[in-house]
Amino acid sequence: MSEIAVSLKNVSKCFKRYPHPADRLKELLFPGKSRAEEFWALRDINLEVIKGQTLGIVGRNGSGKSTLLQIIVGTLTATTGEVQVNGRVSALLELGSGFNPEFTGRQNVFFNGRILGLPEEEIEAKFDEIAAFADIGDFIEQPVKTYSSGMFVRLAFAVAISVNPDILVVDEALAVGDEAFQRKCFARIQGIQERGGTILFVSHAASSVVELCDRAILIDYGELLLSGSPKLVVSKYQKLIYAPPDKIEELRHEIRDFNSQKLSIYSQSGVTKRQIGTKLIAKLLQKGHDLYDPGLVPKTTISYIAQGAKIENPCITNKEGKVINILSRGKDYIYSYEVKFTETAYKVQFGMLIKTVSGFELGGGISHPTGDGVSCIESGTVVKVEFKFSCRILPGVYFVNAGVLGIVNGSQTYMDRLIDAAMFRVQTEEDLLVNTIVDFNIEPSVLLMMQQVTA
Ligand SMILES: Nc1ncnc2c1ncn2[C@@H]1O[C@H](COP(=O)(O)OP(=O)(O)O)[C@@H](O)[C@H]1O
Ligand SMILES: [Mg+2]
Repeated sequence: MSEIAVSLKNVSKCFKRYPHPADRLKELLFPGKSRAEEFWALRDINLEVIKGQTLGIVGRNGSGKSTLLQIIVGTLTATTGEVQVNGRVSALLELGSGFNPEFTGRQNVFFNGRILGLPEEEIEAKFDEIAAFADIGDFIEQPVKTYSSGMFVRLAFAVAISVNPDILVVDEALAVGDEAFQRKCFARIQGIQERGGTILFVSHAASSVVELCDRAILIDYGELLLSGSPKLVVSKYQKLIYAPPDKIEELRHEIRDFNSQKLSIYSQSGVTKRQIGTKLIAKLLQKGHDLYDPGLVPKTTISYIAQGAKIENPCITNKEGKVINILSRGKDYIYSYEVKFTETAYKVQFGMLIKTVSGFELGGGISHPTGDGVSCIESGTVVKVEFKFSCRILPGVYFVNAGVLGIVNGSQTYMDRLIDAAMFRVQTEEDLLVNTIVDFNIEPSVLLMMQQVTA
């Protein structure tokens, strides 16, 4: 048992929902007849997380991920089933939880420290370190309600890691905040991994789950649909979010069957992915390797006025997952970007286009056929879009665009577009025998058919 950090047996969670807000009051005034509808946010979840493991949790919005984490953290109680947690838990839950908006940052640090079970002197001793990590300057003395979401998450993360938790629970929060801060957070997460800590990590960023986690689970409609390697789980999850509505039920069956057939190779394996964690940190920390030229950043990026979505972090990665901008002819790469949705959109499509320096359009791609798309993306969602491509172009410098098209308020619009979102160079090669732009894989051969007799 001591090897198990978190164990859930047949855990279900039922929320009461009132179709009309007044019903809640009526029920209080006239007890006896319940007007509530039962809503099962989690159904019969069985899960064991062994110590030292980093578990990724993915699933569509409203699938029950946050409910599951809150049951583990203890801020919600399971309706039925058994929950066991061994070790000190520290949580970075969704924005808004845990902090009192009227208190200053400083007061919230103490308030939270007490909730996490730290004695006053210990919080006192750690305060400077926490403030330094959060790095929000004088805002630490301001009420938290005046904070931006980025500042909020900085402070929340600083507090959550200050207690050296045995189990760290992170619910999506890291998607907020700039790259430099995320880098710091990932480095701390790695520190906890190295000390043998257990991490539960909810994220929409497929790459973070794949690179940081040892194992992942997919939750859908409150059901644990799949448990397995992060790569497998993320790929099924992506299939699910991109599926047309009439195919979803079929797909759910397919994934469920797949899960039950699969031998539980992952369930008890003690293998952790520390080297891979290190790889991620390396990727985040230093783009300063020989395949990344920091000077190769477009000065011509044009961003159209965004309408309900924002494209961020366009970049190219190689097979090793490194962010690069120097490519080699003939190799495969992934062009990716993230999209933050601030409005709910329907039939959403994502696109890319590669152009020459002079603006000639060489080739592009879209995520879905014309007229199709992700059926619905809710406001608040962050999507990571990846386009795998082969570098079939010759040495030179090229630019790449990004675009999101969707139906917002009934009409189809470009929700965001970035012209010259990123640039890259295809490495020069010595004695190249092909020229111009497209690599047709031309292999010249010159045969001597007949010997000329010279006098
Ligand atoms: N306190 C609550 N009362 C009623 N329904 C709730 C409550 N909290 C969450 N839910 C519902 O439970 C479902 C799962 O929510 P949640 O765990 O937040 O999903 P996720 O984190 O995967 O987006 C949603 O349909 C949500 O509306
Ligand atoms: Mg959630």
